[in-house]
Amino acid sequence: MSARRLPEDARFATRAVHAGLEPDPHFRSVVPAIHQTSTFAQPAPGEYLEEYDYARTANPTRRALEDALGQLEGGLATTFGSGLAAEHALISATCEAGSHIVLPRDLYGGTYRLVDKILTRWGLRYTMVDQTDLHALAVAIEPDTRLVWVETPTNPRLDVVDVAALVELAHARGVLAAVDNTFATPVNQRPLEHGADAVVHSATKYLGGHSDVVLGAVVVADEQLHERVRFVQNAAGAIPGPMDCFLVHRGLRTLHLRMAAHAASAGAVVELLLGTPGVSDVAWPGFSGMVSFRHRDAHGICTRTRVFTLAESLGGVESLIEVPQAMTHGSVEGSDAAVPADLVRLSCGIEDPVDLVNDLHQAILGGSRGA
Ligand SMILES: Cc1ncc(COP(=O)(O)O)c(C=O)c1O
Repeated sequence: MSARRLPEDARFATRAVHAGLEPDPHFRSVVPAIHQTSTFAQPAPGEYLEEYDYARTANPTRRALEDALGQLEGGLATTFGSGLAAEHALISATCEAGSHIVLPRDLYGGTYRLVDKILTRWGLRYTMVDQTDLHALAVAIEPDTRLVWVETPTNPRLDVVDVAALVELAHARGVLAAVDNTFATPVNQRPLEHGADAVVHSATKYLGGHSDVVLGAVVVADEQLHERVRFVQNAAGAIPGPMDCFLVHRGLRTLHLRMAAHAASAGAVVELLLGTPGVSDVAWPGFSGMVSFRHRDAHGICTRTRVFTLAESLGGVESLIEVPQAMTHGSVEGSDAAVPADLVRLSCGIEDPVDLVNDLHQAILGGSRGA
């Protein structure tokens, strides 16, 4: 039975809807089955279909998601049990004891914790720089630097890095560039098209999109690097379950629609924040639903919202609000990546933007009424 092929020039939305979806070969179900299995029957010892001998090594539901992610990012995807497991696998596949990596000065706290608290014990060294300053980045690269780890937009300050210029600089020094594309998603940014060597995702966020799954992915351009990442996936074993793969794959089919709605919500919220006394440092990259701002009553605002839920994470259809210093970024306290205590991070969902604006407005005013 021949695989159905989309036209070569199919647009992103069309690819998002169809990527990785082949009708089930036996029953022709349009959405393939969830292969909730740990192993596969062999007709004779060592005889099995394709790569399916044991489900840590490969699973058809996981493979369908990996095919889809590869198609949307323009590379070869491998999935993991979380975004951090994906990060760990990529660093394991590219670095060794004595290697040095460059981290952004503003970054997800868990990435810093992984490198600073775990990987340094195995001989990895790191330097943190503001990667919007390419000169500072150039100075930070050492003879043993293997990897420049990029977040753009950064979490939680939402700095945007020029990926193409950064990749050019890194490659001129023989260094790989990996981009955490969690906040932008392939709808807004496809780093591999700008020459990056790897893309990492916390698919827990926008890719899954419904706050019901934790999953991670690495997508790379080079086949040999892909093999190394897949080797770590099987050898270290931090794989995602089939049901979680199914959920993220389902999320991908509406990614383009959700990202447009997230951006519309964020745009409306930013307009409110820019005109609100007491609010400063409003940051929004102009796409995606992530917004941050500073306010002296950061904690109070977060407890007064009724549509925004006070919770860690981001990228789901529902709006979330948090104080990074007290929540997601506790692990960077005291480091170069520390965030101010009055910083609020919003993940603007796909509710009606009017309700989001009204909710935030009353939450901010609620504090000043009593003051
Ligand atoms: C930018 C970014 N990268 C990676 C991660 C880690 O992903 P996970 O929570 O799926 O392990 C997060 C989690 O918040 C994140 O915000």
